[in-house]
Amino acid sequence: MKIAMIGTGYVGLVSGVCFSDFGHDVICVDRDPAKIARLEQGEVPIYEPGLDQLMVKNVEAGRLSFTMDLERAVDGADAVFIAVGTPTRRGDGHADLTYVMAAAEEIARVAKGYVVVVTKSTVPVGTNRQVKKAIRKANPELDFDVASNPEFLREGAAIEDFMKPDRVVVGVQNDRAAEVMAEIYRPLYLRDFPIVTTDLESAEMIKYAANAFLATKITFINEIAALCERAGGDVKEVARGIGLDGRIGNKFLHAGPGYGGSCFPKDTKALARIGQDHAVPMQITETVIKVNEEIKRRMIDKLLDLCDGSFNGKTVAVLGVTFKPNTDDMRDAPSLTIVPALVGGGAKVRVVDPQGRHEGEALLPGVHWLDDAYKAAQNADLLVLLTEWNEFRALDLKKLAKKMTVPRMADLRNVYAPKDAKRAGFESYESIGRAPFQKDD
Ligand SMILES: NC(=O)c1ccc[n+]([C@@H]2O[C@H](COP(=O)([O-])OP(=O)(O)OC[C@H]3O[C@@H](n4cnc5c(N)ncnc54)[C@H](O)[C@@H]3O)[C@@H](O)[C@H]2O)c1
Repeated sequence: MKIAMIGTGYVGLVSGVCFSDFGHDVICVDRDPAKIARLEQGEVPIYEPGLDQLMVKNVEAGRLSFTMDLERAVDGADAVFIAVGTPTRRGDGHADLTYVMAAAEEIARVAKGYVVVVTKSTVPVGTNRQVKKAIRKANPELDFDVASNPEFLREGAAIEDFMKPDRVVVGVQNDRAAEVMAEIYRPLYLRDFPIVTTDLESAEMIKYAANAFLATKITFINEIAALCERAGGDVKEVARGIGLDGRIGNKFLHAGPGYGGSCFPKDTKALARIGQDHAVPMQITETVIKVNEEIKRRMIDKLLDLCDGSFNGKTVAVLGVTFKPNTDDMRDAPSLTIVPALVGGGAKVRVVDPQGRHEGEALLPGVHWLDDAYKAAQNADLLVLLTEWNEFRALDLKKLAKKMTVPRMADLRNVYAPKDAKRAGFESYESIGRAPFQKDD
């Protein structure tokens, strides 16, 4: 199959590379000249483990190339995937479809033979029909179909997720488009990965429902964590105890500083707006959005408590600022709420993150970037573990505590055990949903 992939971000690039690895001929298009220049030189512009080798392998095999020339990519393609951003529209919470619709119109202008235009971007119910209308208006002669193929990959594990998905969702209107999509995903079908073929609207809805459900699960355990802190109980034990129930499952039950990232915040907001537009308020999702904001604020209170009520003049070492480990993505990361509160409160903030600096420098002004947790802890008054990168999972707590002026830690990912922190010489240690200890415990 000949495939054109419009947009080479986290989703477009991973999908393009993986499709080429399936054996398809793929041309990836982006309108960002810097991105295309780097890709043409064999450089991956994002941090995603394993992507660089897989990309180079397929470029060398002659199955994968990059261009800014959309017409060249679309010419003769069996399917054109739209994998551009759908950020939150300023002011109203809706998904901003400007990039999707612009891509659809560009495709319409240059496509010639039969083609399936596949929306991989996360889009509200009804968008694929809008895409179809826009293409028909721009090029009434064009023989085409639309398909919805939402993506479920997780940054940091994107290749594994794409190659071994829990399921592939395909929304189509007829057999002709279904056949093209089946051919594209044949390697997965042959290996018995479930392919859910459905109508356009169900496919669109599946993506938002999945993300809202996962955001709800995280927020639920975060709320239970807050209750544990007041009423007693260890949220890690509670999560294990409920997660072993097959009806609940143990995934997405790690209490933390609130969900962030490129999808959950914007997709929950968009679903809430879709509900309002159809006079069916998404009350659970709306509450999740509100509670998640409160959780992030609660983190700041936790840090303030550890700093005796004021950040002013304190030196704070922050470990990890990306929204999760194994990505350089900073979109809606909890660090974007927490770090400015520290800086704004007068703290001197040092930041260590294995991949976050490139994006983070512009987003977190006024912080000092270091490359080592122990250097960051030198003469610090507080250590905040914010993103659980592997290199922060086995720190020498004793060494850290010794270096600090006042050994205090906020472990916002529950990586360490309170008793270990105490034994290592920490004077106070706070985590999520577990009893803290103070020096006289
Ligand atoms: N990031 C994730 O983990 C993830 C997971 C599942 C689904 N999604 C969804 O996938 C979509 C893409 O997300 P992303 O994180 O990859 O976005 P991104 O912002 O990383 O990348 C989008 C890319 O599209 C390019 N682009 C925009 N308009 C273009 C056009 N007309 N022609 C060519 N290139 C164009 C941009 O330059 C950019 O490189 C979103 O709808 C998102 O919700 C993302």
